[in-house]
Amino acid sequence: MSSKMPAEKQGDILCFFINGKKVTENNADPETTLLSFLREKLRLTGTKYGCGGGGCGACTVMLSRLQPATRTITHYSVNACLLPLCQLHGASVTTVEGVGSTKTRLHPVQERIAKAHGSQCGFCTPGMVMSMYTLLRNRPQPTMEDITQALAGNLCRCTGYRPIIDGCRTFCQEANCCQANGGEDCCQKGEQNPDEPAHEEKPRLFDKEEFLPLDPTQELIFPPELILMAEAANPKTLTFRGERVSWVSPSSLEELLQLKARNPEAPLVVGNSNIGPGMKFKGVLHPLMISPTRVTELFEVTRTPQGVWVGAGCSLTEVWSLLEKLLPQLAEEQTGLFRALIRQLGTLGSLQIRNVASLGGNIVSAYPNSDLNPVLAAGNCRVSVVSAGGRRELPLNQDFFVSFGKTILKPEEILVSVFIPFSRKGEFFGAFRQAPRKESSFSTVTTGMRVFFSEGSRVVQDVSIYYGGMGPTTVCATKTCAAIVSRPWDDETLSQAYNVLLDELVLPLSAPGGKVEFRRSLTLSFLFQFHLEVLQKLKEMHVITEEIPEKMQPLPREIHPGLQEFQHVPKDQSDQDPVGRPIMHRSALSHATGEAVYCDDLPATEGELFLALVTSSRAHAKITGLDASEALRLPGVVDVITAKDIPGQKARKLCGYEEELLAETEVSCIGQMLCAVVADSRSHAKRGAAAVKVAYEDLPDPVFTAEEAVEKSSFFEPRRTIERGNVTEAFESVDQVHEGELRIGGQEHFYMETQSMLVVPVGEETEFNAYVSTQFPTLMQEAIAETLSIPSNRVTCHVRRIGGAFGGKVVKTAALACITGVAAWKTNRAVRCVLERGEDMLITGARHPVLGKYKVGFMNDGRIVAADFHYYANAGNMADESVLVVEKFLLHFDNAYNIPNLRGHAAACRTNLPSNTAFRGFGVPQSLLVVENMVEDVAALLRRPAHQIREINMYKGPSVTQYKLEFSPENLQRCWEECKLKADHGARRRAADQFNRENRWRKRGMSIVPIKYGIAFSDGFLNQAAALVHIYKDGSVLVSHGGTEMGQGLHTKMQQVASRELHVPASKVYISETSTNTVPNASPSAASCGTDANGMAVQNACQILYQRLEPIRLRNPKGSWESWVQTAFYEKMSLSATGFYKGPDLYMDWDKKEGRPYAYFTFGVCCCEVELDCLTGDYRTLRTDIVVDIGRSVNPSMDIGQIEGAFMQGLGLYTLEELKFSPSGLLYTRGPSQYKIPAVCDVPLRFNVYLLPDSSNPHAIYSSKGIGEPAVFLGSAAFFAIKDAAAAARSESGLVGPFSLNSPATAERACLACASPFTQKIPASKPGSFKPWALNI
Ligand SMILES: Cc1cc2nc3c(=O)[nH]c(=O)nc-3n(C[C@H](O)[C@H](O)[C@H](O)COP(=O)(O)OP(=O)(O)OC[C@H]3O[C@@H](n4cnc5c(N)ncnc54)[C@H](O)[C@@H]3O)c2cc1C
Ligand code: FES
Ligand code: FES
Repeated sequence: MSSKMPAEKQGDILCFFINGKKVTENNADPETTLLSFLREKLRLTGTKYGCGGGGCGACTVMLSRLQPATRTITHYSVNACLLPLCQLHGASVTTVEGVGSTKTRLHPVQERIAKAHGSQCGFCTPGMVMSMYTLLRNRPQPTMEDITQALAGNLCRCTGYRPIIDGCRTFCQEANCCQANGGEDCCQKGEQNPDEPAHEEKPRLFDKEEFLPLDPTQELIFPPELILMAEAANPKTLTFRGERVSWVSPSSLEELLQLKARNPEAPLVVGNSNIGPGMKFKGVLHPLMISPTRVTELFEVTRTPQGVWVGAGCSLTEVWSLLEKLLPQLAEEQTGLFRALIRQLGTLGSLQIRNVASLGGNIVSAYPNSDLNPVLAAGNCRVSVVSAGGRRELPLNQDFFVSFGKTILKPEEILVSVFIPFSRKGEFFGAFRQAPRKESSFSTVTTGMRVFFSEGSRVVQDVSIYYGGMGPTTVCATKTCAAIVSRPWDDETLSQAYNVLLDELVLPLSAPGGKVEFRRSLTLSFLFQFHLEVLQKLKEMHVITEEIPEKMQPLPREIHPGLQEFQHVPKDQSDQDPVGRPIMHRSALSHATGEAVYCDDLPATEGELFLALVTSSRAHAKITGLDASEALRLPGVVDVITAKDIPGQKARKLCGYEEELLAETEVSCIGQMLCAVVADSRSHAKRGAAAVKVAYEDLPDPVFTAEEAVEKSSFFEPRRTIERGNVTEAFESVDQVHEGELRIGGQEHFYMETQSMLVVPVGEETEFNAYVSTQFPTLMQEAIAETLSIPSNRVTCHVRRIGGAFGGKVVKTAALACITGVAAWKTNRAVRCVLERGEDMLITGARHPVLGKYKVGFMNDGRIVAADFHYYANAGNMADESVLVVEKFLLHFDNAYNIPNLRGHAAACRTNLPSNTAFRGFGVPQSLLVVENMVEDVAALLRRPAHQIREINMYKGPSVTQYKLEFSPENLQRCWEECKLKADHGARRRAADQFNRENRWRKRGMSIVPIKYGIAFSDGFLNQAAALVHIYKDGSVLVSHGGTEMGQGLHTKMQQVASRELHVPASKVYISETSTNTVPNASPSAASCGTDANGMAVQNACQILYQRLEPIRLRNPKGSWESWVQTAFYEKMSLSATGFYKGPDLYMDWDKKEGRPYAYFTFGVCCCEVELDCLTGDYRTLRTDIVVDIGRSVNPSMDIGQIEGAFMQGLGLYTLEELKFSPSGLLYTRGPSQYKIPAVCDVPLRFNVYLLPDSSNPHAIYSSKGIGEPAVFLGSAAFFAIKDAAAAARSESGLVGPFSLNSPATAERACLACASPFTQKIPASKPGSFKPWALNI
């Protein structure tokens, strides 16, 4: 390729600014992204890596450029992970470090997100700050709509977004009242409890009066040098050369055409949102890349009497702004196409993507599900293309899109501009899309439609219908159009059109992407929606007079402030005592400024190596050869680590099963680790890993599904059963018996910080420092030591903070840490391993998918008398903790119900899928969904509301569980009643029913669901905890304890405990890190008992020290803390103490089937209301009210944060997140583009959380209760609300009684469950008659 480039041309100097400082790069590598440049070269590590593909927003920065034509400066948010460094010439970049800092001045955005408790683990926070900061640079007083748009592309796995939105909301001018009671002072007065004294204000989570004002004059200015640079005459071609790729940025169209003529295969890089992911994820190598961003013709906009020519290089944001700007300048009838495009642009990608993605790029990329192409094509748009050979104009129609990712453009042709015509009177447009998530997600099916009538007529003169997502290209429904044209636009024409459409757009049953029935039904329902919209228009124009059945409206989307209620601290509590107060996360400001250091932010040490893994591409095979010779020859590759290199234990034992660290002879899943390549850089290690050749011999009959495992008796033993009463006998005496089944998909942890570790040899006596992002430092220490065959005292594991974990950073992390440790030991150099998002998702497993079957016997009055459950968890290829997970199914499956005869069987199925592991809730969220589904079935059979069946069967009075543990359900009942009251359940239920009577295609559903969740480890020894507290001579206190900080605020709570016990302000207490050399043998931070156990240990240490100081205090009662400490020092008193907490002796005896596996229960109840679009399956949670009994909260802001975050994670689990595997066992969903966790668009429009007042708990510190996990299950209220709405829809089709809806209740499943006339038109596929695209595991 370089031969076709001007030979004499040397690389130019790249010049741009970062945070006001000039950066010049002599050797800019076109393969380098801004993100890696910031993090690795400039050590600006505030900008985070979360996915590398534009899907998570963690890397958001602000880009500012001077627009030479208008001499205006534009600021826009971008994903640094997609932005090629070379594209930055002349631009100014602002990163989170440039916005504000704790050392100098905080920016109000940073302050407000932090103080509003919008940061938990903090990994997403810099990205959030930058999205919001950019918005404020453009609009200092944004609307809520602006805010939700700006944050739509930023994922957070911890907070549930509500506090982030509330922090950002403080910049709005709009009223900030929650309006829960219809406005008018309601926040202050409306919800006042009549028992409370009227003057007593409710405690609030934050006080916005304290916030710094926004002062736009304080922002960094655009560098004047860049203005001069942009205005300089004689722009020249720029060339940058890297190791493998060259980059040319021509300055004129002529030059661009010549270049393209010589290098037709070289892509044009504009937004890099297609090229970039191709290079990163598919390993595509473009030896030459051409950047046309300085060619002015590509950005020109010209208005003609017929429409507007828009430069193909314009970003989608620019196109949107342009169309918006034109709307008021044109007659409404001229703007039909513009409005349709604006509608699609509003939800296409994220703002960061739209800010860079170009119009031409979207068209030429020819995605089968491009959202623009169907609308542009239906709208009769044209394109102007040029090449060195000349210019031509082409219609953007079905002939333009040739095949997957291909258009009719010749390789040397360039798309210069796109003509978007004005619409005519009588011409109407429709644009609809349905995506796995409402925003920031590629469409499943998308469409553009146009119909034209002559004046005063309903007879169709012309019609055009295009779909995306229905094949390899954008397709035209030509025959359907033919069935409509020249006929009146009425029900008869349209109902014939549906039939033609059904025949015309047929998808093979194994079509890539799956969801075949759903996609076909969407084509029909979109046409139906268009039908209704057009009828409405015709009616408005008095062409028709008939009644329109239903006006289609978009789902509501305005997020209102919620209520967060908690109790005041006692009146006599000292002001200095922080316990019980909503103290901000102690690192929140460091998170928001990007100063917080995560594992991969640690600076590289001299000679450090990077490790990349080679994993199996077969689900079940013998390894017949592993050839690393080519990898070893590649630049930078230092070594390849295989099982043979492991000096100590090659396998780790879990639940009685051996787990090989690196497979030697056989593989049992795709993604199993085989060997690792270490090299001098990340890219070299990755290229090395890709060059390792592995030969396999497939073994027969891999097992993938639970059913296959059962058939082949493929289990991890032991399987468990438990029973209370006599289930078999009880079935004899019940009024009705019903059997049901529910499948629950797995869930990817999607912690924002991927698995990360750095193992550093100290240099003598085989000692190592391991910096690992883990919940269980002790395990890392032990595992590395055993693998290296050295004693544990040679390995210190350090954990400062974790960017989210959720159970996923225990067992799997240990295996990775061991391999990294072996590499560090073998090379005697520091080795870093940070998984790419896709690798992380592939290798480290997820929450267990579960197949639940049940048989229930009940009386006609609603009493459930007997129930028998069978649970099959898909454990994957290794045992991990699966047996413990399935035990947990049976410890919880009574949930809140006193079912006298209850039996459960649970098995962990051994399959050839990646091994699954712990995930927040540890099996309870799966187990209880099956139970609640059974309750719903009983309600449906009895034709009674489900909440009544729940009430009838709920534990009351002194109770005992199936494992014979006595407990009082009083607070469960209180939560239930309180939730019904707070949610106004009765009235809203009636209102929802009324809504459903009035709407055919929209249905509202409600559900109220309880939980009883056992806290602590049932293996009693794990409940111990220790702490080490030092007091220094200046009076400052250093606390170490065994728990890790992963966003849950554990360190903040420990700071509160130490502050109370030592009677010093919290600011005197510091927690630096968790390490195995300060607190040995600590338990994992898991099972919701981190605060319970570590709090007691910290309390113990502090009490010892405080006692020790007592004689000095008594001698000098008026002395200060510092004076006492100094006296103690001079009197030779130890100012250091360890604290210990033995923890409850919990156990479960599975032989006797009884025990005391929990210290106590946390109770909670959640009421959700959703609105479901029955035509597309999209839904929105209108309101969520959660009441939780967590005793007396140590920190209400942390606890409410845990509740909201867990609820949203549950909502994701039950309604959104779908792991898909290919028929050969490959995980398809390996990044945020394919796997959708909840985003801002999924936040309940009203989200209220109430901590149950006047509750206490003798079993935990300061009478609090654990809350990390329980609320995940409360997300199931959204699932059952969807089911309730679907039931309402089904009743319109005459369907009543129980029906099957598996979890997650995705749009696909919800839509099909509604059984609309459109879904019913699709012929059902016969299972077994074809090979589905994805496995049904
Ligand atoms: C996270 C994410 C989410 C997305 N969501 C959506 C979505 O919801 N809906 C949707 O429709 N799209 C979506 N996209 C796709 C996105 O809109 C396109 O990738 C983008 O428009 C391509 O433009 P670009 O400038 O980034 O192209 P680049 O990646 O820079 O280039 C893409 C291709 O287009 C060619 N090209 C670019 N400009 C020209 C030109 N003027 N003449 C000839 N060839 C040209 C290049 O040679 C290259 O082959 C998403 C992308 C990402 C990364
Ligand atoms: S890391 Fe850039 S969007 Fe995820
Ligand atoms: S705080 Fe948002 S990902 Fe952890």
